Amino acid sequence: MTRHFLRDDDLTQAEQTTVLDLAERIKADRWGRKPLAGPQTVAVIFDKSSTRTRVSFAVGIADLGGVPLIISTANSQLGGKESPSDTARVLERQVAAIVWRTYGQAGLVEMAAGTVVPVINALSDEFHPCQLLADLLTIREHKGALAGLAVAFLGDGADNMVHSYLLAGATAGMHVRIACPPDYSPADRIVADADAIAVQTGGSITIHTDPLEAVAGADVVVTDTWVSMGKEEDKAARVASLSSYKVDAAMMALAKPDAIFLHCLPADRGYEVTSEVIDGQQSVIWDEAENRLHAQKALMVWLLEQ
Ligand code: CP
Ligand code: NVA
Repeated sequence: MTRHFLRDDDLTQAEQTTVLDLAERIKADRWGRKPLAGPQTVAVIFDKSSTRTRVSFAVGIADLGGVPLIISTANSQLGGKESPSDTARVLERQVAAIVWRTYGQAGLVEMAAGTVVPVINALSDEFHPCQLLADLLTIREHKGALAGLAVAFLGDGADNMVHSYLLAGATAGMHVRIACPPDYSPADRIVADADAIAVQTGGSITIHTDPLEAVAGADVVVTDTWVSMGKEEDKAARVASLSSYKVDAAMMALAKPDAIFLHCLPADRGYEVTSEVIDGQQSVIWDEAENRLHAQKALMVWLLEQ
């Protein structure tokens, strides 16, 4: 049966581990697997801007022996004249998988329901699950294991990265702490889903308004832009509300001495994180950005084998 990757909890804990193990092997032997030999084509569709996602999917698909077809919705029929399900019916006759960066999650759900090829969420307003595979791979590389680690996210709690940290972190058995102002809280139903997963995996979910409480003794400190794509008009209000959640050296000093810092990038230096932290010894952001490639290749290999 076709499997899709629309949100982080589409993978069970065992499946998440399988994909991360595969990513580690693929990283060590970059051109060793060619499931897209033919070459087969993978459609990679963008409704929003991207650097890392565009490059890592294009390079990853090529590494796997395939051809990436990068489509911008601005000059395609999707998003205006044609529905996600009709688009999927056209694409599935010609491509091996569909990767889509979009706004609402509902479009991805519709696309996946209407096709026999795997659909991968390359970021939506609600989730960024491919980024989380890269983040977990990076954390595992630096910390050895995921279960039992405390990860603190500071900033916009309603952000797609937070929702993905809640679900993917809970799946991995991590203790996920989110620090955000009440007006920027994660969606209740996603917190509830993450709670239910954490009960099974031994992880936990806590939502804090005090950033110091969340970061105290953390193994991993994470933030993301305060102004996600689509929220640009709201920038001044966001900066005013979120400024006490900035990750600076004093904040990092409250985490464990060997804590690592992650950011999916792009960063607004001086806003959600200082240059001192993002360029500092504890930052693993360049490993994290590279790991998009290896994690997504593993995901594609795994999905194509289901
Ligand atoms: N982290 C990430 O998804 O970056 P891009 O927006 O550049 O793809
Ligand atoms: N939360 C950010 C992530 C960018 C990769 C956004 O949606 O713009």
